[in-house]
Amino acid sequence: MKRIYLILSAALLFAASYVANAQMYTLKDAYKPYFSVGVAVNLRNISDPQQSAVVLRNFNSITAENVMKPQLVHPYQGEFDWEDADKVADFCRQNGIKLRGHCLMWHKQIGEWMFKDENGNYVSKEILFDRMRTHINAVVNRYKDIVYCWDVVNEAINDDSTSPDFYRTTSGFWEICHDGEWIEKAFQYAREADPNALLFYNDFNECDPVKRQRIYDMVKKMKAKGVPIDGIGMQAHYNIFGPSMKEVDKTIKMFSELVEHIHVTELDVRLTNSTGGNQRYAQTGEVTLNEEDLKKQEEYYDELFKVFRKNKKYLDVVTFWNLADADSWLGRQNAPLLFDFNFRPKPVYRTVVNFKD
Ligand code: XIL
Repeated sequence: MKRIYLILSAALLFAASYVANAQMYTLKDAYKPYFSVGVAVNLRNISDPQQSAVVLRNFNSITAENVMKPQLVHPYQGEFDWEDADKVADFCRQNGIKLRGHCLMWHKQIGEWMFKDENGNYVSKEILFDRMRTHINAVVNRYKDIVYCWDVVNEAINDDSTSPDFYRTTSGFWEICHDGEWIEKAFQYAREADPNALLFYNDFNECDPVKRQRIYDMVKKMKAKGVPIDGIGMQAHYNIFGPSMKEVDKTIKMFSELVEHIHVTELDVRLTNSTGGNQRYAQTGEVTLNEEDLKKQEEYYDELFKVFRKNKKYLDVVTFWNLADADSWLGRQNAPLLFDFNFRPKPVYRTVVNFKD
């Protein structure tokens, strides 16, 4: 009887320590020797107790998914609305988590007022630059105690590899400037506002050979001119079919020739072969995910993090775009993240955390 009792309590002890370890071993802990692990959050993620516990256990860098974008903090000229951005900044301050600033200048989620006069006509380049400077100065100053880096310019390179146009031509910036001068100005204004924050150019489809070369050429030119740029953000909106590990590795290596800091800024791996912002699915309702696709996703993430670990000397942080499949910007059918519809770790989470090398 005594022996059974002993065996039972030993088993219990073992189980308890296993559970404790399993709980302790999380993304940020597993990757401590490699890079920080970040997450883009919405306001629910940081106010709901279950969700914020998942955030705090697993991540040591935070990005605001939307609330620090130009349109949200500065909807009308000279009228700032800091309420929601402050909530994310305060969450970081209270919990000692560093904040990636996203984003200062983007052609989307920016008030039309930035580009137009009261009659709806485009303003001059000088007026645009002046407005950019005011905006950048206000936002950067407000969060300079907690923001360690800024995506200064987001998605300014043409995404169409078959087009000869180098820069994106569908934007207010292009309509007014017809060149890349505004990009350089944005970086200068950001450095002026905070000499200590690392400044990034951020873009998607960055592993596409044509687009990658364009990003490379632009940053190289900026560096040669003395424009204050510290890093390149690889958004990393991938899917189970690509890009290949060879291309991801090559992209990191190429960018590392130019800049000291590379951040993976918006990682997700969708279950379909779509790219960019298209093909979004509903964010509520029942969906059945294909087991084979989930297996492919697990293999893809496994390989991808191998490449990331191999490149740890270039990568400072790998940030996931959203916390869980429950609130991915791509919708439920894409289920692109490591946590499921109930904010619980998927099998792929364990694969990414329990790596062998
Ligand atoms: C997305 C958000 O996740 C959505 O909620 C919003 O409706 C649109 O923007 N590239 C970026 C991010 O740099 O800011 C985008 O975030 C996703 C694509």
